[in-house]
Amino acid sequence: MSEVAKLKCGDQELELPIITGTENEKGIDIGKLRSTTGMVTLDQGYVNTGSTTSAVTFLNGEEGVLRYRGYPIEQLAENCDFIEVAYLLVYGELPNEKELVTFRESISSHTMLHEDLKSFYDGFPRDAHPMAILSSVVGALSTFYQDSLNPHDPDQVEVSIHRLIAKLPTIASYAYKKSLGQPFTYPDNSKSYCDNFLQMMFSTPCAEYTSDPVFISALNMLLIVHADHEQNCSTSTVRMVGSADSNLFASISSGICALWGPLHGGANEAVVQMLNQIKADGGDVDKYVKMAKDKEDGFRLMGFGHRVYKNFDPRATIIKKACDRLLEKLDIDDPLFEIAQKLEKVALEDEYFVDRKLYPNVDFYSGVIYRAMGIPVEMFTVLFAIGRLPGWIAHWKEMQNSPSSRICRPRQVYTGPLNREFVTLDKR
Ligand code: SDX
Repeated sequence: MSEVAKLKCGDQELELPIITGTENEKGIDIGKLRSTTGMVTLDQGYVNTGSTTSAVTFLNGEEGVLRYRGYPIEQLAENCDFIEVAYLLVYGELPNEKELVTFRESISSHTMLHEDLKSFYDGFPRDAHPMAILSSVVGALSTFYQDSLNPHDPDQVEVSIHRLIAKLPTIASYAYKKSLGQPFTYPDNSKSYCDNFLQMMFSTPCAEYTSDPVFISALNMLLIVHADHEQNCSTSTVRMVGSADSNLFASISSGICALWGPLHGGANEAVVQMLNQIKADGGDVDKYVKMAKDKEDGFRLMGFGHRVYKNFDPRATIIKKACDRLLEKLDIDDPLFEIAQKLEKVALEDEYFVDRKLYPNVDFYSGVIYRAMGIPVEMFTVLFAIGRLPGWIAHWKEMQNSPSSRICRPRQVYTGPLNREFVTLDKR
């Protein structure tokens, strides 16, 4: 006998089936609610609403657990490189040696952009935000690959997936070079994914360039911990847009726009801006914690709090440890890291944050590492997007391949004016 929830609606009593997931999470299936009661549910921000079942990522916010396809994030960050994790998310299993070599080779064969796409960058202002460039150029990829846009053709989807994973670092590095007025650096397919990205970002035609292995390893870890996070705002956007049978490029371009928001992926940029503001203000963290608690002030401690994690974000723990190691190894004394640690200590002892279970999230420390690597702050969210791409793709594919998938079209409760007669202009 399957579990049910009983709901009394007026003189009706409904039995709504309860769905139980593999981790024993339970969801009440309200699929028949409106047809039987005429009512809809309301849930601002979908705090209590599951949009789908999914086998991609499991997270437990109370316990600070995050697993991609069942593998704990700590083990993946420790043992894999980003392309291996991308394969796991997109195809559901860790690749064997042959699968990994083939996947790497395919990705490497797609790293270049069509030469005509480079002219797009001439049109952007030099100070254009790279997230605007990223979403524009990713959307424009659909104009160069018009023969592979059908979301129901597995071969067209496969080649689009490989093109996106391969080209996003190139698109991103071109945006950075544009901001510097430096020539774009072509991909070097003899290098690993992260090494290639760093050389596209930092090498110039005038000097030899070799990526620091410490940075390559730190970048791999950062991309892995950003790779997926179940139904977050940008992933839900990718699913929403994809549910209309929009092509993968269009769906990913929309996810980039959602991630840009400072309440979401844009928080890593906002954290460093906040830490710089505190530093410029004499490092008085107590003042900023006080501001964050004052509802009138509207200031929020960026990099703190999370819709799901009501305990430490396991990614923040991994990144913070890497921060410590990296700064020590490079003998970098970054005042922002000191301020971040001080801010964390003060906030975590303050009842406002304790009561609301507000802990540092993935964005709180990531910017310190990006700075140490020489990544400019406006590129931080771009790196988040490069990391999140395999997760977006995995969810888009899962949605497309689900027999129960249908176009996402939420309902509402109307609160506007009642029916009224039109008034001609001369009478208004
Ligand atoms: C990401 O969803 C994901 O998985 C996202 C992500 C991913 O990997 O995709 O994990 C990536 O987006 C991480 C979050 C990055 N954003 C920030 O760091 C921005 C600062 N944080 C917040 O704005 C906020 O915590 C959110 C947006 C992250 C979560 O917002 P919620 O769940 O809607 O929580 P809320 O705004 O309702 O806050 C609950 C309470 C409120 O106070 P009360 O009304 O109960 O008195 O906590 C307060 C908020 O005012 N609060 C904060 C705060 N975050 C929440 N107060 C001060 N500073 C903060 N940072």
